[in-house]
Amino acid sequence: MTETDPRDEARALIASATQVLRELMEEGVDCFERSAAPEEAQAEVHEGAAAHPAPVVHEPPAPPAAPRPAAATLEAVREELGDCARCGLCEGRRKIVFGSGNPDAQLMFVGEGPGEQEDLQGLPFVGRAGELLTQMIEKGMGISRDEVYICNIVKCRPPNNRNPLPTEVAACRPFLDGQIDAVGPKVIVTLGKPAASLLLGRDVAITRTRGTWHDYRGIPLMPTLHPAFVLRQYTPENRRNVWEDLKAAYTRARA
Ligand code: URA
Repeated sequence: MTETDPRDEARALIASATQVLRELMEEGVDCFERSAAPEEAQAEVHEGAAAHPAPVVHEPPAPPAAPRPAAATLEAVREELGDCARCGLCEGRRKIVFGSGNPDAQLMFVGEGPGEQEDLQGLPFVGRAGELLTQMIEKGMGISRDEVYICNIVKCRPPNNRNPLPTEVAACRPFLDGQIDAVGPKVIVTLGKPAASLLLGRDVAITRTRGTWHDYRGIPLMPTLHPAFVLRQYTPENRRNVWEDLKAAYTRARA
């Protein structure tokens, strides 16, 4: 067995603590209260555990969407993607994870990027987080997962499931937009902060943004928590929040 160098471990710990602090600062956290119960304190600093109900944000109405050229089909978008080598993620991937589901879906889910299972199988959301998402769609909404369309911001697995880099996101962006155009959903649900931030064009605090309606090029968009986060923070509040968001999205998609 190879021995782990304690200095490497320390470096990894520092890198991960730095990342957490950066995310907290992005969320507007600038101090910690020592008095909070451990679970509450932990929940407060992570993306979805709103200690206070998420406010309803009334954004100014979006200007009318500019007429768009006829959308390519999903097959055409996939063909254009090809055996992609547009960014470094191609080096470590096993399979491209393009997307799956109904090409005419009324409801479209956008996650962050493939994990290990997705990379192995070439399908989005088939690992543990995917099981939870599938359960929420099938048991919660009462529809088959095949009725919706599911994809990610990036189509190849980032090493060690790190967040995709801006260059990687930019390289994949035309294909995500192509998928959205091809499917033409009535509602988009973004899963987690990166997907919401990308499609809303700004760095969002998912805690405050989830549960509120937005617009992506004329399509109503509902940001919610990422199922992987809900698995990590499996609190009644997080589950209730995601469920409320999905119910609102499903109701609007069927209207
Ligand atoms: N997490 C994601 O964001 N996407 C997947 O496909 C799986 C896990």
